[in-house]
Amino acid sequence: MDIGIESIAFYVPHYFLDMRKLAEARGVDAEKHVVGLGQEKMAVPPPGEDVVTMAANAAERALETVDRDQVEMVVFATESSVDQSKAAGIYVHALLGLQPHCRVFETKQACYAATAGLQAAAALIARRPKMKALIVAADVARYGLGTPGEPTQGAGAVAMVVSADPKVLVLEPESGTYTEDVMDFWRPNSRDEALVDGKYSVRVYLRALAAAWKQYSEESGREFTDIDRFCYHLPFTTMAEKAHTQLAKVSGHRDRSPEQRQRDIADSLVYNRIVGNTYAASLYIGLTSLLENAQEDLTGKRVSLFSYGSGCVAEFFSGVVPAGYRSALHAAAHREMLDTRVELSYDEYVDFYLRYLPKDPENWEFPAYETGSFRLRAIRDYKRIYERAT
Ligand code: HMG
Repeated sequence: MDIGIESIAFYVPHYFLDMRKLAEARGVDAEKHVVGLGQEKMAVPPPGEDVVTMAANAAERALETVDRDQVEMVVFATESSVDQSKAAGIYVHALLGLQPHCRVFETKQACYAATAGLQAAAALIARRPKMKALIVAADVARYGLGTPGEPTQGAGAVAMVVSADPKVLVLEPESGTYTEDVMDFWRPNSRDEALVDGKYSVRVYLRALAAAWKQYSEESGREFTDIDRFCYHLPFTTMAEKAHTQLAKVSGHRDRSPEQRQRDIADSLVYNRIVGNTYAASLYIGLTSLLENAQEDLTGKRVSLFSYGSGCVAEFFSGVVPAGYRSALHAAAHREMLDTRVELSYDEYVDFYLRYLPKDPENWEFPAYETGSFRLRAIRDYKRIYERAT
């Protein structure tokens, strides 16, 4: 029985900041952002847009062609949780009118959390082949204003329907995992912005990749050249270039030409370059980018996925693209969503940034910005009130 991704869709906020404008405001060379980090634009969520609204928007699209009554599990992967107790997925479950006989829970391990959900869903479906699982990953990547992490911010959500009818990617069972207790990036409960040891985090990412790859290749017997396209967790696009160079090196393909290495990864970077880091969603928006932007027919091609969550947990695994995958994608809708976004001035970006999270509000009304089909309308008696946007 094949198990994997039946449908995949993503959502990003309607507003973005051009990275050149951020560079100008910070007094750094724009090439550092555009070439050095490989980022053109960064998605900025307005007040009233949070992980729930973003995830509901992505999930509504991913479920368009799916029988919702078969969804027996909703996993919400995030490190931007809106509550310490209640799973954000319960709001999504309600907003989308999913049937009540459904397990709903939240997973957290930095950017790795969606992969945990995906693998758990695949294992459960092996036992219950008729069920479908909805995995949503949504995050707001926030660092302090003026810090080195600032140009690697972003926001967005991805939703994947996982089932025994994988129209988009058939998952292969082999995987390599790696865990190490490190403080490369973290966010104490008292803080709204992540703390990060940036250069160290890049080194740990690369170390975790080498370790996860080793186990994957030993378990699967596959070599670097058995993989046709490579998707990496994308905090910024040049991280994938560093990662791919590292993988070529540790797998004995140091001589792979720069052109060939670009071809291996370029299509997976298109969306991240104009959205930014979306933490748990980032790898899977990269996968969507690959499937939707590759000119070549990917049918039968093996795609690897490297999931990295700071702290850290990593996993290297793979899947094969089935015939007919293009008709299961939402490429046109994604392009329209990205093309119709509104550019913010630097001052508007700072305004959104500062007004995004009112501190511990008992009651709060959110102004109506463009937030797709769903919005956070208010907080009343500490309860979040979501609604379908009119
Ligand atoms: P920085 O110190 O501001 O930047 O921090 P830099 O000086 O290292 O420059 C960045 C690159 O731009 C360098 O390229 C420069 O040479 C180049 P590299 O040497 O790395 O190849 N550069 C230029 N290029 C062209 N023209 C110029 C120019 N100037 C410089 N004029 C850093 C960069 C990534 C550390 C920072 O942005 C940061 O701390 N970001 C947040 C942490 C992060 O993204 N870490 C990635 C790995 S950890 C991870 O992926 C997990 C994460 O997603 C969280 C989670 O799991 O939840 C973050």
